[in-house]
Amino acid sequence: MKQKLLDKFAEVFGSAEGAKVYFAPGRVNLIGEHTDYNGGHVFPCALTIGTYGVAKKREDKVLRFYSMNFEELGVLESSVSGLRPEPEADWTNYPKGVIWAFQEKGNMTDCGMDLLLYGNIPNGSGLSSSASVEVLTGYILRDFYGLDEISNQDLALIGQYSENKFNGVNCGIMDQFAIAMGRKDYAIFLDTADLSYTYAPVTLKDAKLVIGCTNKKRGLGDSKYNERRSECETALAELQKVLDIKSLGELTEEQFEQNKHAIKDEVRIRRARHAVYENQRTIKAVEALKHNDIEEFGRLMNDSHTSLSKDYEVTGIELDSMVEAAWKQKGVIGARMTGAGFGGCTVSLVKTEYVEDFISEVGREYEEKIGYSADFYVVDIGDGPVTL
Ligand code: GLA
Repeated sequence: MKQKLLDKFAEVFGSAEGAKVYFAPGRVNLIGEHTDYNGGHVFPCALTIGTYGVAKKREDKVLRFYSMNFEELGVLESSVSGLRPEPEADWTNYPKGVIWAFQEKGNMTDCGMDLLLYGNIPNGSGLSSSASVEVLTGYILRDFYGLDEISNQDLALIGQYSENKFNGVNCGIMDQFAIAMGRKDYAIFLDTADLSYTYAPVTLKDAKLVIGCTNKKRGLGDSKYNERRSECETALAELQKVLDIKSLGELTEEQFEQNKHAIKDEVRIRRARHAVYENQRTIKAVEALKHNDIEEFGRLMNDSHTSLSKDYEVTGIELDSMVEAAWKQKGVIGARMTGAGFGGCTVSLVKTEYVEDFISEVGREYEEKIGYSADFYVVDIGDGPVTL
């Protein structure tokens, strides 16, 4: 893989002398969805699939980008100074956003670079290909400029900052954190209220994580993501009139039920209910996993999906059909949508011996109902970014 990437780099940019090869993973969230901007808990893990980057620092100010996933776009060029998001810059707005964020935070990342990317995360799947590119770019910049004081957690925060401020998506910290802090065979139990976290082993013994890709593309920017976020902010402001809280993540289910009357709109009550219950579910799920109660973990995954579908309304017919088909299959411990929703992927925990049947049966039912096919990936939990 490494040599192939270096050869491609030489073909595109002239020479691979002095170029280095890097990798940053994608991520899947096991439970705790739409809680990260509500001060709640999340439980994601990094994957062994992700984004490979070959990069070489330049002496001048020129940035040249090439993606093997978008070869038709050719080499996209710009300057390292005066960076701003441009629609025609396409995917390069992600690495550019990170270079810009480094500069904003006072780092002299003022040399150009040649960067070639190759990702094996299905594009638009909801497995965080954009956050993977962001963390990868930050990792490369840290290496180029010897910025050893920047930790992996900082890389996550810079990535999120670039996504929020440069690319205009008000995402939480989950994706970048899961990618920058990933650890093989562990999921990260992260409290987004204060960024405290612990690693929890995910030893599935006789089960596998199966990702189902609906092939309904979604762009976070044009989705209802930002709308959900502001609905939750309004609900929080209403609750703050009767409760002394900083986020929805501080509430137990009981406290929510006793005070929900303060929220003056039925839709917002449902949005806030999801945020509160999902956070509590995540805490319970991690506890269940600790006690090797995988069945309970699966049940909580299923409840998470129902809440995302009915209360939070971020699923849609594709995700619902896929998850409902998954629930019916033999050997399924739990299944839910994962990521932002509105298309993208599902994650299912399936007993190893049933994985093949699961894929063919869910795939068949999905295609029959939706009219086009789904893709499935059996994934492994991997480490954070590395230099290869
Ligand atoms: C996207 C965002 C994350 C998180 C999830 C929903 O992946 O980037 O910050 O909000 O949606 O859980």
